[in-house]
Amino acid sequence: MILPIYTFGQPVLRKVAEDITPEYPELKELIENMYETLEYSEGIGLAAPQVGLSIRLVVINLDVISDDLPEYKGYIHTFINPHILDYDDTETDLMEEGCLSFPGIHESVRRPTRIHVTYMDENFQPHTEWVDGYLARVMQHEFDHLEGKMFVDRLSMLRKQLIKGKLADLQKGRFRCTYKVKTRKA
Ligand code: NI
Repeated sequence: MILPIYTFGQPVLRKVAEDITPEYPELKELIENMYETLEYSEGIGLAAPQVGLSIRLVVINLDVISDDLPEYKGYIHTFINPHILDYDDTETDLMEEGCLSFPGIHESVRRPTRIHVTYMDENFQPHTEWVDGYLARVMQHEFDHLEGKMFVDRLSMLRKQLIKGKLADLQKGRFRCTYKVKTRKA
């Protein structure tokens, strides 16, 4: 089932999400629905708050960009209760990001290139690892959603000022996009 994506202005996007247990109701169906929603909206990552649920659950599909980044061929992963333990601040890079909760907005964001993460997979098996490259960027973007943070928070004051109008339009539901959304007013 394709779920509507909650867009900027929805209060759930500003909440700190809660850890879940294997007993979370209909978790398997929810994960399937999130992958289906991600595919339909042509994204590479989706965090549960973006479908209105304040829980620590993220799906990432980098297989869809493996023509450009072959190292991610077949990379489709579910992250339960992820937490970033550490950022390696020795190197950062600047790259353009978008977000399904911000249709039409693309902005360059500076982030560390390497992070130490802990999470459980869909079988609730724990993993702790250092991650780098594009995956580290996508994880930071998605895991930020679980802290109530979004990529626009990480822009310079100047860029924030320049996109103020666009953000106001988003909040008011004045935008178009090709996938199903749930705006604050809807
Ligand atoms: Ni996002």
